[in-house]
Amino acid sequence: MRKKVTKAIFPVAGMGTRFLPATKSVPKEIMTLVDRPLIQYAIDEARAAGIKEFIFVTSRGKGALEDYFDLAPQLEQELRKKGKTELLDILKSTNMDSGAIAYIRQHKALGLGHAVWCARRLVGNEPFAVILPDDVIAAEKPCLQQMVEAYQETGGNMVAAMEVAPERASSYGVLDISEENGQLVKVKGMVEKPPADQAPSNLAVIGRYILSPSVLQNLNKMKSGAGGEIQLTDAIALDIENHNNVYGYRFRGQRFDCGSKSGFLQATVSFGLAREELHDDLKAYLKSLMLDDA
Ligand code: UTP
Repeated sequence: MRKKVTKAIFPVAGMGTRFLPATKSVPKEIMTLVDRPLIQYAIDEARAAGIKEFIFVTSRGKGALEDYFDLAPQLEQELRKKGKTELLDILKSTNMDSGAIAYIRQHKALGLGHAVWCARRLVGNEPFAVILPDDVIAAEKPCLQQMVEAYQETGGNMVAAMEVAPERASSYGVLDISEENGQLVKVKGMVEKPPADQAPSNLAVIGRYILSPSVLQNLNKMKSGAGGEIQLTDAIALDIENHNNVYGYRFRGQRFDCGSKSGFLQATVSFGLAREELHDDLKAYLKSLMLDDA
């Protein structure tokens, strides 16, 4: 029986400069799609996949994120007093078990690989997930749950993979594929942000990973890669050289890049339309905009 994946790392130490000035005082992960912060979508997805321990890699100025996971007894009391049971339930659904969350500081933003490495002692010697809360995935079955199920069969390392247009490949880690088997692809190499004409495929890695502890050992030896940052992609690619399998998993669902303004706005519209109580108003408004444009 394969060891269950029960720990997830949430690297949230980036500066979120694309959302300045908001990110001067609001961590990007607290920005909301409709009424839920990005981090809540990530936590819900992790829970659905069976994650029990949540490890946040944070940095200076992320206090609001820690506060968000505190209990809010006064607020609960007020809502109870006023009989607002629906709101009370929403509030309670965000409560986390005591001891389930750990915070680790990344003292310098040296890249995603470095952020994951900062959590090495909390992960120990077992497989773990990495979730980037910037990537929000709308899916019938949450993306990480799909991956955990596939991982039970494959073991090794697994990254979420998505087809991108060739001219977009240079913004992602890109997979070099040796075998295709339905939603799974076997990977023989990975390149971070390749020049457009040198991308080995159109399958890009997005922010969901299930990794073996050997990747943490690889990160121990890593020097900075593309963009002067310590790249997680390079550490996973090194595992292939060490004869550990790496798979890409073509998840079912729609991914929104909420680290970019355009992706964030698209997600806001899409999640708004998906809400019964907002759907009609929002749709009518969007239609009126289209008529204005015509
Ligand atoms: P991004 O590349 O989106 O960087 O990081 P960023 O700082 O968050 O945003 P911009 O580009 O300045 O607008 C991808 C993910 O990796 C984390 C980020 O928090 C985000 O979840 N990250 C990145 C770290 O935790 N540490 C780092 O050193 C770099």
